[in-house]
Parts: sequence; C-alpha cells; structure tokens
Amino acid sequence: MSRAMRIGVAGAGLIGRKHIELITVSPDCILAGIADPSSEAKAFAEACSIPWYADHRALLEQEAPDGLIVASPNALHLQMALDCVARGVPALVEKPVTDTVATAQRLVEAVRRTGVPVLVGHHRRHNPRIKAIRNKVAGGEIGQLTAVVGLWLLKKPDDYFDVAWRREAGGGPLLINLVHDIDNLRFICGEISEVQAMTSSKARGFAVEDTAGLLLKFANGAIGTVTLSDATPAPWSWELSSGENAAYPKQDQPCYLFAGTKGSLSVPTMEQWSYPGDAGWYAPLSRAAVDMPLADPLVEQLRHFLAVIAATEVPLISVEDAMGTLAVVEAVREAALSGTRVFPDRIMEQAA
Ligand SMILES: NC(=O)c1ccc[n+]([C@@H]2O[C@H](COP(=O)([O-])OP(=O)(O)OC[C@H]3O[C@@H](n4cnc5c(N)ncnc54)[C@H](O)[C@@H]3O)[C@@H](O)[C@H]2O)c1
Repeated sequence: MSRAMRIGVAGAGLIGRKHIELITVSPDCILAGIADPSSEAKAFAEACSIPWYADHRALLEQEAPDGLIVASPNALHLQMALDCVARGVPALVEKPVTDTVATAQRLVEAVRRTGVPVLVGHHRRHNPRIKAIRNKVAGGEIGQLTAVVGLWLLKKPDDYFDVAWRREAGGGPLLINLVHDIDNLRFICGEISEVQAMTSSKARGFAVEDTAGLLLKFANGAIGTVTLSDATPAPWSWELSSGENAAYPKQDQPCYLFAGTKGSLSVPTMEQWSYPGDAGWYAPLSRAAVDMPLADPLVEQLRHFLAVIAATEVPLISVEDAMGTLAVVEAVREAALSGTRVFPDRIMEQAA
C-alpha cells in the first residue's frame, strides 16, 4: 500500500479500544480520530493525543478518514453505517451488523444503491483455522454431515454488567456472543433452515437472557444443538478453547463437534475420529490429531478492511451475509418466545 490509510473509530469501548490498538501498531494505517461521547473516551483521547469527537458525523466531516470502524452499541450501527455510506466512506461495522434484520435490510439497500463497501466484523471468519475446518467439513472429509454440537459455556465477570445496555433485552449472549457461533456454523456447515429454542434469565435475574438451548436444522439435513450460558465457570467456548485471543486463558477443550457419515471432528482441539477398517461400534476407532493453522483474526480483518478500502478485495462478510446470521439469531429469539419452529428464510423474506 502506498500511503498509510487514515481510519476513524466510532465507539471507544471494549472492542473499540482493541481496534484502536491494532490500528496504532499497523504500519499500513494511522488513527484519524475517535468519536465517542463518553467522558472516559474523551479522557483516553486526550491522554493519547488523539483527535476526539462526541459525534461520528463530526469526525467524518472534519477528519475525512479513508474508513470508519463502527464499534458502538448495536442500536447505533445502522445510522453510523448509513452516514458512512452517504459520504462514500467504507465502513467496518462490528457484529451484529444492526440490531434487527429489518434495519439490516435498509443497509443492504444503501450499499446496493451506492456501491460503498461495508464489511461486517464477524472476525472469526478471518481465522485460517475456521477456513480450514470449513474446507474439511464442506469438502466431505468426514462424509455427509449428520449432526453438530456447539457449546458456549463460560462466566462473564460481574462488572461486565455495570454497563446498562448489557442488562437489557438485545444486549445479551444471543446477540453479542451466539451471533459469532451461528456465523461460524453457517460458514462451516451451510445455511440453517429451521430453529427451535428456549432461553432463561434465572441465573442473573436481568431482563436479558443468560442461558439458552437451541435445536437447529441445516439446509443439508444435518441437525445441530447449541447450548449457551454466560453464568457458569466452564471451559467450553470458542473464546476459551481456541487460543485466538490471548486475553482469555486457553483451555484444552472442544466447543464444537462435527459428526459425519465417515468420521467426526472436535474443534478447536482438532481431533478427527474414524474407523480405519470396518465401521461399527465394536470396531477400533482411531483418533488423529489434525494440524491446522492459527492466527489473530482481528489483525487479518484489519488488513482485509484496508484492502477493501483500496478496492483490491471485496468484503469477506457482506451486510447481506451478516443479515443471514442475524436472521438465525432473530429466529432463536422468536422461537424461544413462541415455543414454535421458526424459519430464518421467512424472516429474511419479510424484511425484503
Ligand atoms: N468482534 C467482537 O469480538 C466483539 C467483541 C465485543 C463487542 N463487539 C461489538 O462491538 C460493539 C460494542 O461493544 P463493546 O462491548 O465494545 O461495548 P462498550 O459498551 O464497551 O463500548 C461501546 C462504546 O460506544 C460508545 N458510544 C455510545 N454512544 C455512542 C455514540 N453515539 N457515538 C459514538 N460512540 C458511542 C460508548 O460510550 C462506549 O465507549 C457491539 O456491537 C458489540 O456487539 C464485538
């Protein structure tokens, strides 16, 4: 790249600070400024001598950045992304792309109309390990996919809930965390066609759920279950199992099991099980360690965003694709409320 690109960040909270850190150490971009009305963000900007704005539109107008990273609360994503698109500024919008499928559709239309690229921050898809697992499962190495197990069981620290929106509906593990796992499962196994679910808020007693159980049917016929809770000391989650983010002490435990007609795979422990000879429950089952690459997907995501701005790459995760992930999460919420089966495709069709 010929010159360092100037990247702005709207929302300098938990993930926004991580983006700021990565921009600061990258040789290919510099921080154009941050937009965040909080006094903490203002003090942070002053301490680091970074241009600070209370409003993202002021940052866009006065700094004219090459791209903006939207890392604000979910309900603000749509307007911030629309403001970028209206000014021809490519955006990296944190997941979930917006807070509802209907609002995501408005962004899909704006991107189609203007051609301004928007990349959605489902950053795990940039992990070479996730890409390799997808190639293995979709490439038929474990045969026809029959069943999938997903676990997201861990304990969020109590002070995480000091932020009000994290205690309210929409700020919990379905939209904030499950959305990552659903995106992984869609990417690895294909589209999810039907959803049943139950949620509970019994452990913490907040308006937002802390625990959920899902039953999924994939378009290819495979059946999946996902169990999640953010209120339990446990090692089974991508965060703690993958080693992707050094902030989480790594646990040597799986969080996904992929079962096929020829074998099965535990992830990210990367063990592949199969019968070397005749198959059947009396026969010896072999276990092979699968060597797969691992890299920091947030670093790769930033590299990709710069390439999207330079128009040398197209967004790996488009708004429309991320809307497909959001439709499944919305289906989970609807299924839990209604106690019925919900079809993500219908949610997408209703929004169109
Ligand atoms: N990719 C990931 O792994 C990942 C991880 C965490 C969060 N996220 C996503 O990032 C977003 C932010 O989450 P968080 O945990 O960092 O939240 P947070 O509450 O820690 O940070 C949000 C920040 O946005 C600021 N903000 C509020 N109103 C604003 C406005 N009008 N303009 C600009 N800034 C404003 C707040 O002051 C706060 O500093 C959410 O959409 C979340 O889903 C993604």
